[in-house]
Amino acid sequence: MSTLFPPDFRWGVATAAYQIEGAVSKDGRGPSIWDTFSHTPGKTYNGDTGDVACDHYHRYSDDLELMVKLGIQSYRFSVAWPRVLPQGTGRVNAKGLDFYERLVDGLLARGIEPNATLYHWDLPQPLQDRGGWGNRDTAQAFVGYADAVSRRLGDRVKLYATFNEPWCIAILSHEIGEHAPGLHDRRLALQVAHHVLLAHGLALPVLRENAPKAQHGIVLNFTPAYALDNTEEAQQAATLADGTFNRWFADPLFNGRYPEDIWALYGDTVPEVQDGDLAQIAAPIDFLGVNYYTRVSFGGNAGNVERTAMGWEVFPQGLRDLLLRLQRDYGAPMYVTENGAAYEDTLVDGAVHDPERISYYERHLAAVHEAIEAGANVKGYYAWSLLDNFEWAKGYSKRFGLVYVDYPTQRRILKSSAKWYAELIAKHQTP
Ligand code: FCB
Repeated sequence: MSTLFPPDFRWGVATAAYQIEGAVSKDGRGPSIWDTFSHTPGKTYNGDTGDVACDHYHRYSDDLELMVKLGIQSYRFSVAWPRVLPQGTGRVNAKGLDFYERLVDGLLARGIEPNATLYHWDLPQPLQDRGGWGNRDTAQAFVGYADAVSRRLGDRVKLYATFNEPWCIAILSHEIGEHAPGLHDRRLALQVAHHVLLAHGLALPVLRENAPKAQHGIVLNFTPAYALDNTEEAQQAATLADGTFNRWFADPLFNGRYPEDIWALYGDTVPEVQDGDLAQIAAPIDFLGVNYYTRVSFGGNAGNVERTAMGWEVFPQGLRDLLLRLQRDYGAPMYVTENGAAYEDTLVDGAVHDPERISYYERHLAAVHEAIEAGANVKGYYAWSLLDNFEWAKGYSKRFGLVYVDYPTQRRILKSSAKWYAELIAKHQTP
């Protein structure tokens, strides 16, 4: 890339606990809904589970060294609730917190800024047994968990995000059924979404109290919707897709209300909302985490579409449009907390050449740069992901890493994209 980003722009990589840690029974960790789901026949590709994953729980020091090698400035990871509170509530498992303390201190010792996401989908199974996110009490349980983590880690973590991708937690997992707990119930899914947003709002003051110098926010996934022609149908379909996917989550957080058009559309499946909930949900945040991978489109003729190994359309312009739109509609400082692509990587003579991934990153970073130039307040970028990892329902069949993981040996091999990213970061290092 020829264009330079602002000097204080942060360059990062992102991961999530269940996707990389493994060690699922180590040091008192309890089971999560993803252990249950991945061990249920037919739920994941090839029956893959996160039992071992990248064995990061044991190899985190080596992985920190990898980050040093790449010049990473900020690391976005998630904390596993079932390590910290194996029952979901009640007894805190000190050994679980010890691990994240070692990780955070290891990052700080290497000059890397810790960015912690509290919930990246691994709900303790005992809470699911009591109704999971469909039960309003789970929001309160989350506050206890957020308290335990932020009391121990405090301001050493510079950025806290409450949740990763409420749309996936709610809709993908409770209506579409593709992710744990694998249910098919729209009303429940919308109630889950509401309880997740509520949990976010309830946890914020606790996080601020325990980590007053940290920045606090939430990570949403956005799938912008485009109408490719001027027909009424295409326009309407795009508005509805945007509403269900994007506005349903962002509007309550920033404006304290659900979007009216979608509320009407959902009819009698709308969630039960108690007095005061929306005010709580709309408590101001310090940053919005933006995850962007692709768009959806309606009507017209998309022609020959470029796709990743996930089948997702490559549409860099969508990221620029999205950042500008979020700036205009909501106004919070933003980080791109995830962006990246899976391709069919192969290890040949000890090397992995992935020019397609480099091209994906180059074009999306150019889009971020354009958005900044046009006025979007974007403070950093996290590539998804540092390592190839357990890609949820797709198991180990999809590789998103800058670093290739040879699962049988757990050897890490820098792909060409990792070297490219390291050079890009180096170019931005102030001398
Ligand atoms: C996002 C998830 C992340 C990863 C990427 C590919 O939806 O947050 O864990 O699986 O997709």
